[in-house]
Amino acid sequence: MTTDAGTAPKTRRPLLELAGLRKEFGGRHGTVAVDDVSLTVGEGETLALVGESGCGKTTLTRLLLRLEQPTAGTVRFDGQDLGALAPAELRRLRRQFQVVLQDPYSSMNPRLTISAIVAEPMVTHDPEARGRNGRRQIRERVGALLESVGLDGGIQDRYPHEFSGGQRQRVSIARALAVEPRLVVLDEPTSALDVSVQARILDLLAELQQRRGLTYFFVSHNLAVVQQVADRIAVMRQGRLVEVGEAAQVLRDPQHPYTRQLLDAVPVPDPRRGRRARAAAGADAATAGGTGGGSGGAGHGGPATAGGGR
Ligand SMILES: Nc1ncnc2c1ncn2[C@@H]1O[C@H](COP(=O)(O)OP(=O)(O)OP(=O)(O)O)[C@@H](O)[C@H]1O
Ligand SMILES: [Mg+2]
Repeated sequence: MTTDAGTAPKTRRPLLELAGLRKEFGGRHGTVAVDDVSLTVGEGETLALVGESGCGKTTLTRLLLRLEQPTAGTVRFDGQDLGALAPAELRRLRRQFQVVLQDPYSSMNPRLTISAIVAEPMVTHDPEARGRNGRRQIRERVGALLESVGLDGGIQDRYPHEFSGGQRQRVSIARALAVEPRLVVLDEPTSALDVSVQARILDLLAELQQRRGLTYFFVSHNLAVVQQVADRIAVMRQGRLVEVGEAAQVLRDPQHPYTRQLLDAVPVPDPRRGRRARAAAGADAATAGGTGGGSGGAGHGGPATAGGGR
């Protein structure tokens, strides 16, 4: 039995609703990067968007974050049409949706300390954070955030170049969480990382989602990653969604020939093997002195420099 595939499961309250979204670049004879996309993402779920390079995934995320204006269609967040909001209202709503990108380094000012990087969205969104009391509070909040992503709270005065790719991705996750968003858009968040580091970041994301009730819009071309994280999968081809459905269903029994083609190109391991492989990667992480433990488990001894090169 197939229901309307673009609709969020009935048990979840819709948080993000895209309707008829279209984005053209370069005028009349330009590119149609996003073409009539309608999709609902329920609160607390992970929607994975897959598709080959250039199919429009990042453009779609930029539309839903309102970093780009759609040529047509609407984005509703928690029932509010982003296109109908006054700038001040949009700014206020913005803190509820944050983004984590593939290459955190390129989005970090190398001259800012970790503290300033993580605190930046708080300072932007919270005027009280700018006063002297605010500064002390910010240090406390940044410390707690760093620990919640498995880093030592004491690294605040250090700089991004001192950390590995995985650690920098943890910093950018901490920054995204600083304003307590409800939706986090993750655009290929682990694609630049080694497989073992990738597994640890995915575990961290799962833990944070559970603890904070986050909704993830997760872009990836890696179906093995998608299989681990997704509740539902949306398959994009040349700007259009060709298939949307429950993750297990799409992976086991793809309906669209293009999805079948994608799956054939990258065989997805059977789920039980996948879980075991993940558990093994987690064990490696723990023995490597990484961040495997619970929050605040970073302890002493500078875990910021443990577990990998720079
Ligand atoms: N600012 C822009 N101006 C003109 N064309 C653009 C712009 N941004 C994206 N495009 C075009 O839109 C299409 C979709 O690009 P997009 O970056 O969204 O793809 P993608 O699925 O994220 O690819 P990748 O997997 O490589 O990241 C491409 O043809 C791209 O060249
Ligand atoms: Mg992209």
